[in-house]
Amino acid sequence: MNQTNVMQFLNEVSAKYPQAISFAAGQPSPEFYQNESWANFIKVYEDASPLSSSLLYRYASSSGLINHEIAQFLRNDEGFSVAEQNITLTNGSQEAINLVVMKEVRNDNECVVAIEPFYIGVKEVLEGQQKRLVTLDFAKLCQGGDLSCEAFEQALQEIQSQGISIKLVYINPDFNNPLGFCMSESTRQSLIKLAVKYHFKILEDNPYSHFCYQGKRLPSIYALDNQGVTYHLGSFSKIFCPGLRVGYLVEPATKDHGERRISDYKSATSINTCALAQAVIGGFLIQNDYSFKARMAEINQHYGARKVALVEAVKQSLSPLGVKLYEEVSGGFFQTLELPFEADFEWVEKSAAQYGVIVMPVSFFCVNSTKWKRFVRLSFSYADETTIKEGISRLAKSIESQCSIV
Ligand SMILES: Cc1ncc(COP(=O)(O)O)c(C=O)c1O
Repeated sequence: MNQTNVMQFLNEVSAKYPQAISFAAGQPSPEFYQNESWANFIKVYEDASPLSSSLLYRYASSSGLINHEIAQFLRNDEGFSVAEQNITLTNGSQEAINLVVMKEVRNDNECVVAIEPFYIGVKEVLEGQQKRLVTLDFAKLCQGGDLSCEAFEQALQEIQSQGISIKLVYINPDFNNPLGFCMSESTRQSLIKLAVKYHFKILEDNPYSHFCYQGKRLPSIYALDNQGVTYHLGSFSKIFCPGLRVGYLVEPATKDHGERRISDYKSATSINTCALAQAVIGGFLIQNDYSFKARMAEINQHYGARKVALVEAVKQSLSPLGVKLYEEVSGGFFQTLELPFEADFEWVEKSAAQYGVIVMPVSFFCVNSTKWKRFVRLSFSYADETTIKEGISRLAKSIESQCSIV
């Protein structure tokens, strides 16, 4: 089964068993955005930007309409300054990944490196563009819960020794999808050095960095990069509302010498990101001091409590069955568990049909690795604490039953 079929399979399972509690979707909880006053945000933006407001109902600039507001937001919430012309507004991070790959990977001997398990939308981009993806296994590169840069460098050398030129390394550094893994600051620094040494760019995809429930947020790779080797992608899908389809792409700080810019590729792909949707974000930012910090402080209390509820329920009901927490996370949407058996399609469907619970096997996020077959990703962002507890108790029954079979 290929990855597109995997997603179809999960959608079908969710549609077929609507009563099942789903830990599958990596979505924000609608209660945090459904009562927002969308039209009011547009009005705030229109009132504040009279010059741009007439553009809301026409074709707009390919690089975006709210670049000024995004630059201020990046300064406040991400701690880095960037020229407005280095920002492109995109249809979510998904389109941004597409655009960067289009720009950077051109020839058959060039590749994108990703560390699996990884966000599988990247694989779909590369397949769509018929470009080469090389995956490395996190299980082999991981040391003490972090990426070992020595092991990573060795793997890069092996790729290059096969005559393959590495153009991009895809990294989701904060509370990544699916493992919830967070890369340390020193590893981020080392990665920048490796990018300079091996002449690749880092594709930093960071939609979960705002969801920090314990400790302090780490600086993004882009914020640490004074070498101009990083593309930074952000998204309003998780911190605000996925239906808006607004994200942004920040190009490396250095100048390209006469090369096409990202906005040229954007123009060819979708002309512009919906101006009305951009105005919603623009209005929100204008109304909130160009920052999501206050909003995140409030909703992170809920998500943090959901994560605690999930972990407690797992320890109480699943640990006695031999289930292990894979590195307890301190942020994001996902917690990974290791089961005492392989989580295959049959078991996922049986869990939904007979026990009313849906989980996501981590093998769905892998291309080559077979090391993650016993792992499942549980998203705790969507359901409230009571539903999470009930979901884990259903999962316990499904696991118990499976353990008696295998
Ligand atoms: C790591 C990662 N990158 C990108 C995306 C796509 O997000 P967007 O809605 O911004 O396109 C997702 C969605 O789940 C994701 O998990």
